[in-house]
Amino acid sequence: MNSVMSCILNRRSIRAYTPEEVSKDDIMLLLNAANWAPSGNNMQPWRFSVVNNNRELIKKLSSLTVYHNWVENTPCLIAVFLDSKYLDDKFPSIYLKHSQSIGAAIQNMLLVAHDLGLGTCWIGEILKNEDKVRELLEVSEDLDLMAVISVGYPSGKDVKSKRKDISENIVSWL
Ligand SMILES: Cc1cc2nc3c(=O)[nH]c(=O)nc-3n(C[C@H](O)[C@H](O)[C@H](O)COP(=O)(O)O)c2cc1C
Repeated sequence: MNSVMSCILNRRSIRAYTPEEVSKDDIMLLLNAANWAPSGNNMQPWRFSVVNNNRELIKKLSSLTVYHNWVENTPCLIAVFLDSKYLDDKFPSIYLKHSQSIGAAIQNMLLVAHDLGLGTCWIGEILKNEDKVRELLEVSEDLDLMAVISVGYPSGKDVKSKRKDISENIVSWL
């Protein structure tokens, strides 16, 4: 099996981490992987904010999600934003296009993290506290929060998710 497919099949959300730090080089690899995702008109609408080994800030951010029990023990959090200066009220569908591009960027990050032996979890539940996240991260109001990604070395305590068989999801093949 080629290495991309192997990463796709073996990656799982990781919600329990060892205290080991994530290196700056590895974080840069994740961000570069995200940056090379495809995007509508190559607009690259993603922006990133990294919180690494900053226990105080990670604790504050974790208090903004129901998942605080494990998020507070994560060595690194990466917030992903959509730069709203690329939006246009006359073309609301652009939001959909940009958010799809950001989904691709996030998936690139998750797969490269897996390849590096790192675990990640895509945290969407925190979006309800977008304003507070922006404030803690000291980023502009022009940035729409899309997700926070936890990153760290897996402690091995996670349960592996399953999938429906692909045959249940193919709705037509003509
Ligand atoms: C848009 C999105 C939002 C998510 N939000 C959360 C979240 O807030 N908390 C969490 O624990 N997992 C979250 N996840 C992870 C999913 O629960 C997980 O991907 C799914 O259960 C499949 O498991 P797997 O990633 O291990 O294959 C999110 C995933 C996506 C794509």
